[in-house]
Amino acid sequence: MPPVSSRLPAFPWDRLEPYKAAATAYPGGIVDLSVGTPVDPVPAVVQEALAAASDSPGYPTVWGTGELRDALTGWAGRRLGAAGLAHTNVLPVVGSKELVAWLPTQLGLGAGDRVAYPRLAYPTYEVGARLAGAEPVVYDAETFATGAAGTELDPAGLKLLWLNSPSNPTGRVLTKEELRRTVAWAREHGVLVFSDECYLELGWEGAEPVSVLHPEVCGGSYEGIVAVHSLSKRSNLAGYRAAFLVGDAAVLGELLQIRKHGGMMVPAPVQAATVAALGDDAHVAVQRERYAARRAALRTAFQGAGFRVEHSEASLYLWATRDESCWDTVGDLSKRGILVAPGDFYGAAGERHVRIAFTATDERVRAAVARLA
Ligand SMILES: Cc1ncc(COP(=O)(O)O)c(C=O)c1O
Repeated sequence: MPPVSSRLPAFPWDRLEPYKAAATAYPGGIVDLSVGTPVDPVPAVVQEALAAASDSPGYPTVWGTGELRDALTGWAGRRLGAAGLAHTNVLPVVGSKELVAWLPTQLGLGAGDRVAYPRLAYPTYEVGARLAGAEPVVYDAETFATGAAGTELDPAGLKLLWLNSPSNPTGRVLTKEELRRTVAWAREHGVLVFSDECYLELGWEGAEPVSVLHPEVCGGSYEGIVAVHSLSKRSNLAGYRAAFLVGDAAVLGELLQIRKHGGMMVPAPVQAATVAALGDDAHVAVQRERYAARRAALRTAFQGAGFRVEHSEASLYLWATRDESCWDTVGDLSKRGILVAPGDFYGAAGERHVRIAFTATDERVRAAVARLA
């Protein structure tokens, strides 16, 4: 049997290792702006909830505690404007990456089915399609959503359409109207929409990011749409693996059955921590302030060093270019002790951009600013 891994692209981060070594050797050490991993403390209210639930000898359930489901429906109603949600409209997942990677398989997709995702995107959408043996298809998220002529996506065999607004890596935000048009198109063609909204709380400029579950987008019906949310970024919980789905009850009911058989349970202490995190807006505001300051400092410094920053209205990244190969930029910055992600990790269309994460401590951001001056 050919190994399953042969269906997958090379793990891109391995290619960055020599540049990481070069940046690490710089006097004063590396400023790592490559991976978007949180560096600030887990909020105290969340740590306390985790600790209080640490005596959890029994198995948790895949659907989560009633308290967790209340927290998920309550938060989605309050924060996303999604009215009338029941417990059947929510499902916890073990961080959103596993969901993205295994969703096509859990939906039963395979040979002959197509899975579409933006041309510039988080690489795991493609991985998920390939793990299932389905065909990955890219589309132009920006032009497709505007309905511009010549940007149509062929619906033949298309079973799953990924949206990601705010976008990783570009930070672009789809407007309500763009989301509405995409959902209407998908419903017309019977294509299931999964909307990855893990950066929804991290909008900086322009219109506030909106969920696909907003009534002006979905018309108050969740048929054929599911939003994916993660606490990794908004609550510094990447280490906890806490994420959840909200949307179409029929789709989530089916996933629940599959995931029960597969034992895909969120640990009980993490469920309790999620309830605490979703019940507290204060830590989200504090974390936003930290990121806003780092974003402003890095943006000014990179622009001063000859970079053009595109989009980047939201998310945890600056999408920047010096109109050269991304690997030349990565190499040059690594010699100054700064590591960024090459744009081609997110698709060939990114080959002249780099992605600069602002998930570094204030001290490391100051070091980067000094090195770029
Ligand atoms: C667009 C997007 N989706 C999903 C994830 C996965 O996040 P997690 O597995 O921590 O929930 C990431 C992480 O960087 C991401 O950028």
